[in-house]
Amino acid sequence: MNLLTPPMGWNSWNTFGSNISDELIRETARIMKEKGYLDAGYEYIVIDDCWSLKQRDENGRLVPDPEKFPHGMKDLADYVHSLGFKFGMYSCAGVQTCAGYPSSFDHEFVDAQTFADWGVDYLKYDFCNFPASADGKTRYATMSMALKVTGRDILFAACNWGTDEPWKWMKSLGVHMYRSTGDIQDNFNSFSKIARSQLDKFCMSGPSCYNDIDMLTVGMYGKGNVALGQACTDMDYQTQFALWCMLGAPLMLGGDVRNMKPFAEQLVLNKGLLRINQDAEGRVPQVVYYGRVINNDYDPETGTWWRDYPDSGLTLFKHMSDHEFAVGYFNFAPKSADIPFIFADAGLPYGSGYALHLTDAITGEDLGAHQDYFHIKLESHACRVLLAKLVKA
Ligand code: GLA
Repeated sequence: MNLLTPPMGWNSWNTFGSNISDELIRETARIMKEKGYLDAGYEYIVIDDCWSLKQRDENGRLVPDPEKFPHGMKDLADYVHSLGFKFGMYSCAGVQTCAGYPSSFDHEFVDAQTFADWGVDYLKYDFCNFPASADGKTRYATMSMALKVTGRDILFAACNWGTDEPWKWMKSLGVHMYRSTGDIQDNFNSFSKIARSQLDKFCMSGPSCYNDIDMLTVGMYGKGNVALGQACTDMDYQTQFALWCMLGAPLMLGGDVRNMKPFAEQLVLNKGLLRINQDAEGRVPQVVYYGRVINNDYDPETGTWWRDYPDSGLTLFKHMSDHEFAVGYFNFAPKSADIPFIFADAGLPYGSGYALHLTDAITGEDLGAHQDYFHIKLESHACRVLLAKLVKA
């Protein structure tokens, strides 16, 4: 399977948890087609945990819950395929899934064949209830081989939450994406911490095998299965989506696409951001700066005009195809801050005779040509993403 750019799609878990059904999946697929998600690249529709009965059948096969999926999985997969999507399902390397359903430990080959028979194109493979006596790496290798022997192209999405530094070995096992972090929650601290925890690991992500920092929560606004803490604002979602796009992470939507607010829908369909994520070269960005920011507003708490926030400013610079670049500025601090970008720190020295012509990636606004530096003041939690081309100064 020739995976060039980060996988894109939708997954049932973040919003629906165990509350899934044939009807939900069909409706989601129909709406994603109608509203242009498929055309934008969101091609995998994935059913997460809680789809099966608690018992295997007499041949040791997994059985879809007939109340949730009365037509079986093959029929549902056929429908999803008929609209032009690919169909994804979920199992787990342990003896039970995270929600306590039968899973694939010691059933790898029969389960892989079952998925292939149903027409599955994507398998998310979790890590709950894994026997302490067994070896995780071996079991991911086993499922990878079990998928291969089916002869079907099945994207293997491993999900061991970063256990045993998966960025070092998942790619060598034939895996196509690996979850490197714990579960996302629909709040700013959760998603920003997850993304920042991988800044020094993304260098090992790229074509054939991508670092997966979990399904997006864009558009959930505190509703659904992963709501915890203060729900995200529009600005938080823009920052979340921009981070995933700049880092080149898989874009698996987790919101209810049947009822998305226009802001969230336009955001995940934004052409500039998607182009950065899906750039043909599949490169990851340079982390130009990551560290403290300083806010100079009067702070009544401390009575000072100076406050320092660690790990709060981030500037990313990404090489793309066709001599183009993307720049991402992020402010994770609870106050506004200046986020710098001195071009010399991305390789364009002072007085080089070249400038960067900058365009806002989200709005398309032309910001003109700039020499040597372009700093941006950002509100708390805000981001700005620019596209850049080299021009003569
Ligand atoms: C784990 C995974 C989640 C989700 C749930 C399902 O927590 O990390 O993404 O698949 O299991 O139970």
